Amino acid sequence: MAQHPPIMKGMPVFLHGGDYNPDQWLHQKDIWKKDMELARGAGMNTLSVGIFAWAALEPRENEYHFEWLDEVMDLLAANGMKAVLATPSGARPQWMAEKYPEVLRVNAARQRELFGGRHNHCLTSPVYREKVQKINTMLAERYKDHPALGLWHISNEYGGECHCPLCQAAFRKWLKERYGAIEKLNLSWWNQFWSHKYNSFDQVESPSPIGEWGSHGLNLAWRRFTTAQFCDFYDWEIAPIKRITPDVPCTTNLMHTYDGINYFELGKQLDVSSWDNYPMWTNDDRDAQVASHAAFCHDLMRGVCGNRPFLMMESSPSAVNWQPVNRLRTPGLTMLQGMQAVAHGSDSVQYFQFRAGQGGSEKFHGAVVTHVGSDQTRVYKEVAQVGERLSQLTPMLGSAPENKIAVVFDWENRWDLSDAQFGLNGGDKGYEAAVCAHHAAVLQNGFGADVIDETCDLSGYRLVIGPMTYMLRPGFEDRVKAFVENGGVYVGTYCSGWVNEEDLCFLGGFPGPLREVMGIWDEETDALDETQHNHFTWQGKRYETRDFCALVHPESAKPLAVYEDAFYAGYPALTENAYGKGTCYYIAARTGDDFLRDFYAFVTKQAEMEPLLKDAPQGVLCTERKGDQGTFLFVLNTVPRENTVTLPACTAVENGKPVNGAYTMKPYEVLILRRK
Ligand code: GLA
Ligand code: ZN
Repeated sequence: MAQHPPIMKGMPVFLHGGDYNPDQWLHQKDIWKKDMELARGAGMNTLSVGIFAWAALEPRENEYHFEWLDEVMDLLAANGMKAVLATPSGARPQWMAEKYPEVLRVNAARQRELFGGRHNHCLTSPVYREKVQKINTMLAERYKDHPALGLWHISNEYGGECHCPLCQAAFRKWLKERYGAIEKLNLSWWNQFWSHKYNSFDQVESPSPIGEWGSHGLNLAWRRFTTAQFCDFYDWEIAPIKRITPDVPCTTNLMHTYDGINYFELGKQLDVSSWDNYPMWTNDDRDAQVASHAAFCHDLMRGVCGNRPFLMMESSPSAVNWQPVNRLRTPGLTMLQGMQAVAHGSDSVQYFQFRAGQGGSEKFHGAVVTHVGSDQTRVYKEVAQVGERLSQLTPMLGSAPENKIAVVFDWENRWDLSDAQFGLNGGDKGYEAAVCAHHAAVLQNGFGADVIDETCDLSGYRLVIGPMTYMLRPGFEDRVKAFVENGGVYVGTYCSGWVNEEDLCFLGGFPGPLREVMGIWDEETDALDETQHNHFTWQGKRYETRDFCALVHPESAKPLAVYEDAFYAGYPALTENAYGKGTCYYIAARTGDDFLRDFYAFVTKQAEMEPLLKDAPQGVLCTERKGDQGTFLFVLNTVPRENTVTLPACTAVENGKPVNGAYTMKPYEVLILRRK
């Protein structure tokens, strides 16, 4: 049983807080005191400060002003709250860009950007790195013994890329380390193609619309390098912090499936995973899908940091301001959103933003405290209810899900699938959506699931699902084989095992090194447009296929269903292969959600796995957290209508009342139960 210590030292409670920008109110500081009262009134115990405060901390080069932050930190401490204290590198002051243009990014078309926006510094610039380390050191020195210091919030939403000369040089150095000799790089990237061979590493340029844009090997290397640069930058930021405040954990807020950084790499460096959750709630029945996607994101964000408890660092307490349609939250949705995070292992519910700015582009973004400045708003009262509820959940703090099912979502695989030209071009070939569809089907069957990548350990799972593992990263096939040999159940699909980690196709038949364990040979793949379908019948029910249909030959596998149309009618659409003590299933075509739901009901039954909740109706999701204080079952009604569930014998965590059997859940209701 996994029981983890509280994320913040001295705070053995769920964290409830949000992004707070006291630096925007320096001309009107009396508002801070009111904010403390409002925060406390909403049951908050932390506020995230300093995120974009550089211009207030260092308004001119080497002229520092920490007095205001001292006051804020003191106020937090006096009010029994902790600071999630940010390093300010998410946005830099004007003077720095003016004096040192190298801190500004150069885009892929090789244009140096002007000052503006945020999250757009050069990842390599020695000047920026020096400035960041200096201010981080000063922050750590100043607040190392401050009672309010709870957690370091490193920068904000790292992202993007820089193509400046400094970054080019760093890229070439990285390539040299990876490939050693230019001939090796040429071969790995298949550079005789179009005569694009390099004679030296110095000739390599990052991908560009005005230069080399179509080399998949180069693109892949560039994305790997960019991830490595972010990891290195993070390391650089935390170096002084770790030296001065070794006991204060560090995190940086992630953006769920953001494409630009392999979070499974960056995640290794975080003391705790944290992320910003902005589901596009619709306030109608489609919220079932919205909640399924949010569930996937929570599982992914927990997964990138080893499936320990994490933090939901941001979420909106009301409508956001940047979606095409910014709906208000139906009463109960803010509670559902917060409790869903907790259900998946978050030890916090945090918001963007605590107080709305009087100006700036986010002035109309949802906030706990809006321009009226009162605790009498609907939104404030709902947030206060979340705070109240969190305070009753302390026994499950530090517990974590222990799922027996894992779904593979791999950044490098997605990058390579997005580049690959075959079948259906554009986007990522539906990769992310496919992974989410498998994950959702598992959850709809009443199970919880982890999200892992191809580098993760499989041995603790009973069922591993690898949709579209087009690229097989080193060692993955061996882990799959060992997993199945030892009795595991593995599900693979179309577009699996085509290329190695350098994007070179496997010779000798797809799915490459997975051919034996899958027991099939995948000869060709057909692509269908949105009006076209094939069909197969399985266990008496007819299903539609779409997008991709692989034409496979069973070798040791046995077909469970065959295509009914086109020239490949009769080819298997679904196969099963006994391998060692385990089983492999291969789904040859993309299907609808109906098939996936039925299929995982079958697979989990075959594998004798017990769902968390039996016969969960459409729109109801469940999760479980286990810890020293017990096993906690979350049942979430994610739609604005009633749903009847059959509960196992449990007690409600909040009031200890026993529950058992049929129960009608109210719209968006969340039950938090302790198993008997
Ligand atoms: C992100 C950022 C915040 C804010 C919110 C708005 O998550 O981290 O600074 O811009 O979006 O939703
Ligand atoms: Zn750069």
